[in-house]
Amino acid sequence: MKVQPATPGAKRLLYGGDYNPEQWLHAPDILQEDLRLMKLAHINVVTVGVFAWASLEPQQDHFTFDWLDRVLDGLEKNGQKVILATPSGAKPNWLALKYPEVRRCTADGTREPQQGRHNHCMTSPVYRSRVALINAKLAERYARHPALILWHISNEFGGYCYCPLCMAAFRQWLEARYQSVENMNQAFWSKFWSHAFGSFDEVTVIDKSIHGLELAWKRFMTEQVMSFIEVEKAPLKKFTPHLPVTTNFMGLYDAYDYPQMAQTLDVVSWDSYPHWHDGACEWRTACQTAFTHDIYRCMKPDRAWLLMESTPSNTNWAPISRPKRPGVLRLSGLQAIAHGSDSVLYFQFRKSRGSYEKFHGAVVDHVGHEHTRVFKEAAALGAELGELGVVLGGGTSSQVALLYDWPNAWAIAQAAGPRNMDKDYAATCLAHYEPFWLSGIAVDVIESTRDFSGYKLMVAPMLYMLRPGVAERMQAFVAAGGTLVVTYMSGIADENDLCFLGGWPGPLKDLLGIWVQEQDILGDHQKQSVVPVVGNPLALPAVSQARQYCDVVELQGAEALALYGADFYAGKPAVTRRRTGKGTAYYVASRNDDAFTLALYSHLIKDLALPRAIPGELPPGVTAQRRSAESGEFIFVMNFNEVAVEVPLATAQYRNVLTNRRVKGALPLAGFDAAVLQAV
Ligand code: GLA
Ligand code: ZN
Repeated sequence: MKVQPATPGAKRLLYGGDYNPEQWLHAPDILQEDLRLMKLAHINVVTVGVFAWASLEPQQDHFTFDWLDRVLDGLEKNGQKVILATPSGAKPNWLALKYPEVRRCTADGTREPQQGRHNHCMTSPVYRSRVALINAKLAERYARHPALILWHISNEFGGYCYCPLCMAAFRQWLEARYQSVENMNQAFWSKFWSHAFGSFDEVTVIDKSIHGLELAWKRFMTEQVMSFIEVEKAPLKKFTPHLPVTTNFMGLYDAYDYPQMAQTLDVVSWDSYPHWHDGACEWRTACQTAFTHDIYRCMKPDRAWLLMESTPSNTNWAPISRPKRPGVLRLSGLQAIAHGSDSVLYFQFRKSRGSYEKFHGAVVDHVGHEHTRVFKEAAALGAELGELGVVLGGGTSSQVALLYDWPNAWAIAQAAGPRNMDKDYAATCLAHYEPFWLSGIAVDVIESTRDFSGYKLMVAPMLYMLRPGVAERMQAFVAAGGTLVVTYMSGIADENDLCFLGGWPGPLKDLLGIWVQEQDILGDHQKQSVVPVVGNPLALPAVSQARQYCDVVELQGAEALALYGADFYAGKPAVTRRRTGKGTAYYVASRNDDAFTLALYSHLIKDLALPRAIPGELPPGVTAQRRSAESGEFIFVMNFNEVAVEVPLATAQYRNVLTNRRVKGALPLAGFDAAVLQAV
């Protein structure tokens, strides 16, 4: 599968990261030294200007671009490209003090003081116009600067503002969406506890008991951020129509609907900070990272994405954060490339000397020279990535789709019951992703609103909210020969979080051939057993354990493949299958142990002949991911174990792209090691 490179005409993978020269203008020797060190580390791009507003406009309408001119020219001469950020992520004091409306209000209406960052009002006309102005100045000035390759809009948009301007905009939004107060009350089910609204003016968002209202607020805020981004974009597109724009997302952060937000961007990018070495299984941390990489890969499937930030070493904000062990900087960088990123970028190039992030990992530490382990590892990866430009334009083709929906995450999180702890929506999706990752099978992690055709297998864990049309498209998918796996906590509510009447799983009942009569919710130490029906086609292990969620299922056209072993619903179906049309629909009624999930998907992998990046089984904790470019198929084989492994290669023969050696029979990988292979 061919994809468009993230930045136009890219010939090299991007390597570098956030660079804050504005913090060092008093030290020209350090800025000069930075250029030498960047070259030494094979850094070919830096992100400049994030949080530089106070240095670019120290007083209202007084612009000081001379330092940035010098920085950009110096970088250009030195061989670095520039991702230029708009500075709206943090507001200068003069702006926040002179125009209080740019500061957010908390939910109780209190105006926040000027502090921190990422806390401007998204609605404020003053903020919007000041941002538009400084963006226009930047874009006009640097439109033809040869170093500039990409716009980085603001930084990590997040949070909500409840100021009078935002609330007024919300009420208008509600009116446009629902047309009448009656429609809104119906969608919100607000007669409950006597909170029906008499007019749009009565709406506030303090009340967490009205779930439809909560969803509406998140949808509104998503659109408000999008319209803010449009304001930021307008001057950029006017002066530099040839340059793409991005903003940096934060993993599964869910204040806004990220996939929807991505529609305003040309390129998707995200900031990845896995908690390596914190005592959890290392390869599970890697698998979780892969899952999120795949979400971003699929957000704009036709264009490569960018790893916008990662740390070369430790972060400073986690309760504890250990430096990346030797090899992990390289391994995690290659992992991003394996999943379709065109970049490995760090926060940050040079460690700041003071303030909040003075202990955050950086390529260049306070010591100031290149003789550190981290710098050496960073430089070595930079050199290797120089050899990997061949993967540019290379995408991933996948026959497996796993559904992950932001509004679904919202609805599950806000629901009171049926279970209020360990809901674990994302973790459940991850548990269903893991068997594929361990087998080196590519998975597209997509929203339920996306096209399902072209996949052989679709996995929908905990798809509580069925948005309009999703059930029908699932039906069509199975009718056309697809295999669908749906789990407990699916098909329960519509897009307003109103429960489906007529039995769960709502509009999926017929397709799955079941009815969920009730749900058993187990306590911490309680277990249920899942006993395979003799001769079951899934080759399930003898007995597996279920926990937390157990649906009591009635068959209505499906067959049972496993039954519960205990309690009042012993003998009721725990796993069902319905063959319909040319396809098959499975229902997994309980939250099962890993052995069950692995057995289920091992069977489907075989049955559907899902393609692996490398034929045969991989050692545990090792994955292989494929990127298919015009210049060939590149297979990234990655060992996330601390210890060495041998990866069997069956009969295929490969060239190790990084060493240019032939590989046959088996690939030895040291702990935290990776290789990039090309079939020969
Ligand atoms: C975020 C921000 C950066 C920096 C890093 C530190 O990703 O975008 O400015 O604060 O966190 O990990
Ligand atoms: Zn506001």
